[in-house]
Amino acid sequence: MKKINIAILGYGVIGKGVFEICRNMPNINVVKILERKERFDQNYIELFTDNADEIFRNKKIDLVVEVLGGYDFAKQMIVKSLQYEKHVVTANKEVIAKDIDFLSNLASRSNISIAYEASVGGGIPIIKNIKELKKVNKISKISGILNGTTNFILTKMFEGLDFNEALKEAQRLGFAESDPTADLEGYDMMRKIAILSDLAWDTFIDINQIPQIGISKITKEDVLLAKENNKVIKFVCESSLNNDSIEIKVEPKIFDNNHFFSNVNNEFNAVILETFPNDTLTFIGKGAGSLPTASAIVLDIVDIIEERYINNYQNINKYKIN
Ligand SMILES: NC(=O)c1ccc[n+]([C@@H]2O[C@H](COP(=O)([O-])OP(=O)(O)OC[C@H]3O[C@@H](n4cnc5c(N)ncnc54)[C@H](OP(=O)(O)O)[C@@H]3O)[C@@H](O)[C@H]2O)c1
Repeated sequence: MKKINIAILGYGVIGKGVFEICRNMPNINVVKILERKERFDQNYIELFTDNADEIFRNKKIDLVVEVLGGYDFAKQMIVKSLQYEKHVVTANKEVIAKDIDFLSNLASRSNISIAYEASVGGGIPIIKNIKELKKVNKISKISGILNGTTNFILTKMFEGLDFNEALKEAQRLGFAESDPTADLEGYDMMRKIAILSDLAWDTFIDINQIPQIGISKITKEDVLLAKENNKVIKFVCESSLNNDSIEIKVEPKIFDNNHFFSNVNNEFNAVILETFPNDTLTFIGKGAGSLPTASAIVLDIVDIIEERYINNYQNINKYKIN
């Protein structure tokens, strides 16, 4: 059995989940964990460091899991890992949406992998499926509920809470960050739909070109009106390929009660792919949370160990963005 030595950067919600799963995997050995000193886990103190160079210089470490969050430092850590010829597995949608073009080139030059299944849809294996499907199918449209926080808030609004009460409830349960702007205004979903579109159509979309409307202006009256008409409001991202252009947007949208999306509630995520010849495919699952997201990360690690992971992102097509 092939074995791999890994380091985990960030011991927060997802880092802890990755460590927990890896401890039970005979082929994955966690050698180091980067965290701030005050958060070192005293039960595994020998694994912890606050000095990233210790990880880069350690020749025994083959793969780095980046679950720090944020942009600048996380990107710096990913770039350095690749420069030190260590595979990277990340859950960081901001870095992947902005830099996949550059990072995948960097990885390919050294014949190593950068894998990012957990950056979109938490535990839903949507990236793997797009990669597999596109070997045979043409994907014409991707639609998603890809933000658990806003889906939770809208679900609670349909259960009777107003927007602020629903946001507070999401924060109380740990679904929403103290600054929820990226979720509420759709920036988080813009990154995710860009990542999926880039992969499906071998292109690179500038996320600043994606039109977006957030959910903070949805009122109790909007919800009541939708309910009276047997409809629901869902916050969705959509992207479709039409000849030489991609139509892409993030916005709240009204759906009939019998639409697949209308039964995707709380923190769940879902994706619909329109493909040919396979036709319509639907995916639903936990879009966030420690273990579902960590599962996606560990699956990427296993693919890399078993040399099944393919860096098949490439930026070869230019499309007009509408
Ligand atoms: N939570 C989810 O359900 C979920 C789902 C899918 C994807 N993700 C992605 O996964 C990543 C991690 O998310 P998370 O929820 O696990 O975040 P988190 O709980 O905040 O964990 C990140 C950890 O990394 C530490 N860290 C950050 N910068 C550091 C530095 N310079 N040196 C040492 N330690 C540092 C943080 O410490 P400080 O707090 O002190 O900075 C924190 O303990 C993010 O990219 C997120 O978007 C999360």
